[in-house]
Amino acid sequence: MKNRQWLINGNPRGRAVALSDFTHNEVDLAPLVDGAVRVRTRWLSFDPSQKGQMENIAGYAGGNTVGDVMVARGIGEVVESRSDAFAVGDLVIGNLRWQEYATLPARELGRVDDPDHATDYLGVLGSTGLTAYFGLLRVGCPEAGDTVVVSGAAGAVGSVAGQIARIAGCRVVGTAGGAEKCAWLTDELRFDAAIDYKHERIKTRLAELCPNGVDVFFDNVGGEALNDTLARINTGARVVICGGIARYEEAKPAGPANYFNIVFRQARMEGFLLNGYEREYEAARARLRTWLDQGEIRCREDIQQGFDNIPETLLRLFRGANVGKQLLALW
Ligand SMILES: NC(=O)c1ccc[n+]([C@@H]2O[C@H](COP(=O)([O-])OP(=O)(O)OC[C@H]3O[C@@H](n4cnc5c(N)ncnc54)[C@H](OP(=O)(O)O)[C@@H]3O)[C@@H](O)[C@H]2O)c1
Repeated sequence: MKNRQWLINGNPRGRAVALSDFTHNEVDLAPLVDGAVRVRTRWLSFDPSQKGQMENIAGYAGGNTVGDVMVARGIGEVVESRSDAFAVGDLVIGNLRWQEYATLPARELGRVDDPDHATDYLGVLGSTGLTAYFGLLRVGCPEAGDTVVVSGAAGAVGSVAGQIARIAGCRVVGTAGGAEKCAWLTDELRFDAAIDYKHERIKTRLAELCPNGVDVFFDNVGGEALNDTLARINTGARVVICGGIARYEEAKPAGPANYFNIVFRQARMEGFLLNGYEREYEAARARLRTWLDQGEIRCREDIQQGFDNIPETLLRLFRGANVGKQLLALW
């Protein structure tokens, strides 16, 4: 039987990722060895850090090179198993990569217990929600009454981070590109305000919307959003560096000119990676699931379709085409 794949064909460091950075491949499936499981990929997850993984940036899981099957988390159905851990028909999650069939040792796969809500395990109950959870609560340390600003707020991580801040009793302002995304933040996700950075100046709007300053900034973007928010932080503020998509395509990204306000405000600016919290995932996931079931956290999935659209779906993240969690269904 044949397996269709997308291989890495270029290193996009210092520039935008392009469709030509991927090439189509077809191979025969090899027989399964003992302990291995064959998975038919059902959904793939997309995250801007996949560009960094293609570039082998230190800090991300490295070892990706031209000619490798593109790295990606996904969920699929077991179609063949030589392990006692999984049976044919089980839904599993893991690094399935951009291919129709993944063959992996059983120990590298997790079970998806709730098939009716499987995609939540790639979104709010997966690395997306966990990143928002630990980044906001552990690094941001919000207190009730704080003003929290979230950049990239209509994206997968940002939309969850903002809602956790609201649950924590904070006043929440998000930045996002476009009126539709901003309306979703305020009308459905119950953010207190949203700034459409493509049509409004963040600096001006922050002055209007946060007259008493900013206590926590959860940053997914960097660039202007970070610089303008640093200008408005309060004494003791926490600036959480989760991501910096505005710099991911820059050859020589610059740091924020206003960084010295960290000194004047005796503030803290701290980056984090989700995998530093691995031992606490289950407890965090249980809280996220409760909030989801109670309707305290609302989610939106943007599900593209089909194997041929996989590379194009990654590019959507960098032009802001997604609202909420970017996924793709292969079948
Ligand atoms: N620290 C960690 O452990 C960790 C883990 C996971 C993810 N992350 C980071 O968290 C961030 C969010 O990830 P996600 O999966 O939730 O992605 P996402 O926010 O769902 O998608 C990316 C969004 O970024 C915005 N964007 C794209 N280019 C931009 C630019 N030049 N300037 C400003 N905004 C831009 C777009 O929204 P607009 O339409 O609003 O522009 C786009 O929808 C990423 O930077 C990612 O690398 C960090």
